[in-house]
This record gives sequence, C-alpha cells and structure tokens, in this order.
Amino acid sequence: MAQHQNRRVILKERATGLPKPELFETVEDDAPSPGPGEVLINNVYVSADPGMKGWISVARNYASVETGTTMKAFSVGVVVESNHPDVREGQVVAANTGWAEYVVADPESPTFRTVNPDDAPISTALGILGINGFTAYCGLLEVGQPKPGDTVVVSTAAGAVGSAVGQIAKIKGCRTVGIAGGPEKTALCTEVFGFDAAIDYKATDDMDAALRASCPDGVDVYYDNVGGTTLDILLGQINLHGRVVICGTAATESWIPQPAGLRPERNLLVNRIRMEGFLTFDFVKQYPQAHTDLLQWLKDGKLAYREDIAEGLETAPAGLAGLYAGTNKGRQLIRVRPDPFV
Ligand SMILES: NC(=O)c1ccc[n+]([C@@H]2O[C@H](COP(=O)([O-])OP(=O)(O)OC[C@H]3O[C@@H](n4cnc5c(N)ncnc54)[C@H](OP(=O)(O)O)[C@@H]3O)[C@@H](O)[C@H]2O)c1
Repeated sequence: MAQHQNRRVILKERATGLPKPELFETVEDDAPSPGPGEVLINNVYVSADPGMKGWISVARNYASVETGTTMKAFSVGVVVESNHPDVREGQVVAANTGWAEYVVADPESPTFRTVNPDDAPISTALGILGINGFTAYCGLLEVGQPKPGDTVVVSTAAGAVGSAVGQIAKIKGCRTVGIAGGPEKTALCTEVFGFDAAIDYKATDDMDAALRASCPDGVDVYYDNVGGTTLDILLGQINLHGRVVICGTAATESWIPQPAGLRPERNLLVNRIRMEGFLTFDFVKQYPQAHTDLLQWLKDGKLAYREDIAEGLETAPAGLAGLYAGTNKGRQLIRVRPDPFV
C-alpha cells in the first residue's frame, strides 16, 4: 500500500486551567498502517470540543490524552485502505480519532459509523448529525424528559449542543429560553434557533430577575452546559419534579482546587428535583434513532445549525482555546484538507 506522509497535532503538556495553544505541537511522520480488521482514514474535518479541557487536564476525567500522543478528536474522512470486510475504500466515515491527516480506526468501535454524503454536508456528521446532535437529543429526551408545555432553559444556547437542545425542545412542544454570551448570540437564539426568549448573561447584572421574567411559570427542565453561578441561580427556579441535565461545566475554569458554592440539597428535596449527570457515550445505542430523527427534522426544515470552520490542522489548538472565550460562531470544526463533496 502507498505510504502517506502524515501531519498530526500532539499534546505536549497537560493543562492545569484552560487549554492553551502552547500545550500542543504539530509533527510530521509516516501515516500509521491499519492492522487486521482496521481501516486507514484520510480526515477531511476534525473537531474542537469544550470537553477536551477535561481530556487534557491534570485532574481526573472520564477520558484522557497522554502527553506525546495525537490529540483525540471527532473526525470525518474518507477510507483510503480497508482491512475490514464491511468497509470499502472511498467510503465516508465518522469516528473518534484525532487531530491528524491520516488515522487508523476500528470499524467495530461503537462510535464508528458510515456517513452518506448525499444526506447533508459531511461536516454535519461532527455536529447536528453527530456528537452535538446526539448529545442534545439523548440528554434532553432521555434525561430531561420534557413534556409539551414545559419550560426548558438551556445554557450555551447559541452553540452546537445548546441550539439543538432548544430546537428539539420546541419540536416537542415546549417553551424555550436560551442563555448565551453577547447580543449576536442571543439574536441567533431567537431569530434562527426559535427560542421564545434569550438572555445575554454577559450583559445582565441580575440573572435571577432576568430568568424569572423570561420564565414566569418557573422552569421544568434546565439543560445545563455551564454549571457555576448560573446553575446556582436556576436551581432556585426549578418547578416541582423538575429535571436538571448536567451536560457541561464550561463556566468553571479549573477543578483544582475544588470550587465552593451553593448547597442545593434542601431545594432538591423540597421540590423533588432530579439533577443528573449526562455522558453522551452512555447512550450510543440510541444514536441510530437520534440520527434518523435529526436527519428527518433537518430535511423538514425544523432544525437550523451553524458551523465555524477553521482552515488547516495547525489551527486546531487555537480553535479549542477560542471555545472558552466564546469566540466560536457555531460548531467549531477544522478543515484538514479540501472537502471532496463541495
Ligand atoms: N456530557 C457530554 O457527553 C457532552 C458531550 C458534548 C458536549 N458537551 C458539553 O456541551 C456544551 C456545549 O458544547 P458545544 O460543543 O456545543 O460547544 P459550544 O456551545 O459551541 O461552544 C462552547 C461555548 O461555551 C460557552 N462558554 C465558554 N466559556 C464560558 C464561561 N466561562 N461561562 C459560560 N459559558 C461559557 C461559550 O458560549 P457563550 O459565548 O454563549 O458563553 C462558547 O461558545 C459544553 O459544555 C460541552 O462540554 C457535553
């Protein structure tokens, strides 16, 4: 088989706070060779995800990247060599691989899937028809369990996960309120993603009052992507038998030392509130159903999405850092090479 030259981004040093570009380095070497049953993929897009802060942190996490190894990431690309009977060269596939031009993947892995380039732009396999859409769908429907007429509040509402949560909640007959940073993002929430109201947390001195004004009947589901003081405030406005989906902790820069905050237990008890941590990979079995529904809603014009695509693998570390400054305007992706389908 042809030997390909590879470029990849490795983790040089673990993070003690927010991920900085200096923690990474781009290296060049030979592309890896697929072993028995494996495939070699030439990536087209890779992602930058807020969860990566945890993957590279010195603090304990559900996933980890070792120093000196390729930074883990979600990717979509074209198979250039296959040792698997069900995957052929030229097929488009999405997988959990890394920030690299060429990657080896195991098609038997639960997160490996083929992508139909006729359905939608292949970049969506990393966004609304991929990890973000699946996270929104499973977290909201399985954990948040919204009912028609419920008020659903979402943080990072203009982002990839948050905007999908708001739209799915709307499809399910809920009233939706988004929290986002800046007037451009709150306008996106109401004008593009169909939220009934949006709050700019960066321009609001009194979030408690702003939320009460936007949620006159209280909050039935809070889909929390940030934690911190926003969560503390929301906990005081959750209705009887309300649900809080803990999906992300973007507002906390570091977990060392452990930050102190509100004591929620009395409120949880009195109002019988269910507050539950959500990890998308616990729901991989629901991904095919999520994909079917999300694709249908996309085709029906019920789902809008935004992408922020940076050019070139070497921009990935800066793209990641930008997520914590909120500079991304939608799903943060990195185009590794020209997209052969556009
Ligand atoms: N649990 C899971 O399995 C799982 C899976 C995927 C994603 N997630 C979580 O879902 C959330 C959204 O992910 P995404 O990929 O869709 O990213 P995103 O919302 O497109 O981008 C991240 C956003 O976080 C917000 N942010 C950054 N720093 C913040 C701070 N200090 N306080 C409040 N907000 C801050 C910014 O939006 P603003 O400008 O609006 O502040 C930024 O644009 C993240 O928390 C991520 O960890 C969880």
